[in-house]
Amino acid sequence: THSFKDRVVSVASACARDLGFEVLACASTGNLANAVAAQAAALGMQSFVFIPSDLEEQKILATGVYGTNVVAVNGNYDDVNRLCTELSGEHESWAFVNVNLRPYYAEGSKTLAYEIGEQLGWTTPDRVVAPIASGSLFTKIGKGFREFRELGLLTGEQPTMSGAQAVGCSPVAQAWEAGTDVCRPVKPDTIAKSLAIGNPADGPYAIDLAKATGGSIEAVTDDEIRAGIRLLAETTGIFTGTAGGTTTATLAKLAEQGAIDPDERVVLVITGDGLKTLDAVRGSFETHVIEPSYSAFEREFAGVA
Ligand SMILES: Cc1ncc(COP(=O)(O)O)c(C=O)c1O
Repeated sequence: THSFKDRVVSVASACARDLGFEVLACASTGNLANAVAAQAAALGMQSFVFIPSDLEEQKILATGVYGTNVVAVNGNYDDVNRLCTELSGEHESWAFVNVNLRPYYAEGSKTLAYEIGEQLGWTTPDRVVAPIASGSLFTKIGKGFREFRELGLLTGEQPTMSGAQAVGCSPVAQAWEAGTDVCRPVKPDTIAKSLAIGNPADGPYAIDLAKATGGSIEAVTDDEIRAGIRLLAETTGIFTGTAGGTTTATLAKLAEQGAIDPDERVVLVITGDGLKTLDAVRGSFETHVIEPSYSAFEREFAGVA
């Protein structure tokens, strides 16, 4: 469903079935709802997805289409998460993939490390730049590399882990900057809605991992995120959403700071699709409108093409 969330939901939903749960559910910033709705449809399970009510329309449409119960909560993700934690206590046959099944869900992100290693000929990269919302993805990529190295399936050092957040929701980057692992909750205000978790469950572990591997956790502004989306699209042909824009902008920032050695092998983890966050690129380029004639084209592009 156009984000890495299909990986975590695949593992969680397989466990949900094994453990006898009847309903698949989640608290989501958008992409997870999309993945849960699709996976529940594929498995023939009933599902409930809970999202903040101000999500991008593209994400809501791409979720409701699977016949799930879309519950838009008037509040931010942290309000949604609190509600789902309460509901999971009352509905014992419901598998909230990222609440009561979170340990299984989290393991799904390790497949990103496995796949990166495979694509690099079963070696590790020097550095990985990845986004942080709850911090689960970031820490589990680190865990995936560690476990495959321990098993002898990957050769090379543990990669330096660089985390990416949006300034408008950067509790982990702020804690990093302050030299503490205590992430003080914030009220999110950023275009990177998929990363808008103000009270990140795995924030302290993300800080530990960045510290242990010689990395850092950075925050970039909404304008830098928009520029990051364009930079990735124009230089690779990959159209990512605001999370990927955050990650790309963080890589650009680290490169500008001289924090990355030019010889380093760096992997940028692009986790979502630009078609779900179209507003982020609206108005960022010009469309040439012309009459249907050769001369109109020549006039418009005189001296260019
Ligand atoms: C596209 C995308 N990238 C990254 C993340 C970060 O995930 P995590 O909560 O595991 O840090 C999310 C979370 O919703 C997401 O939707």
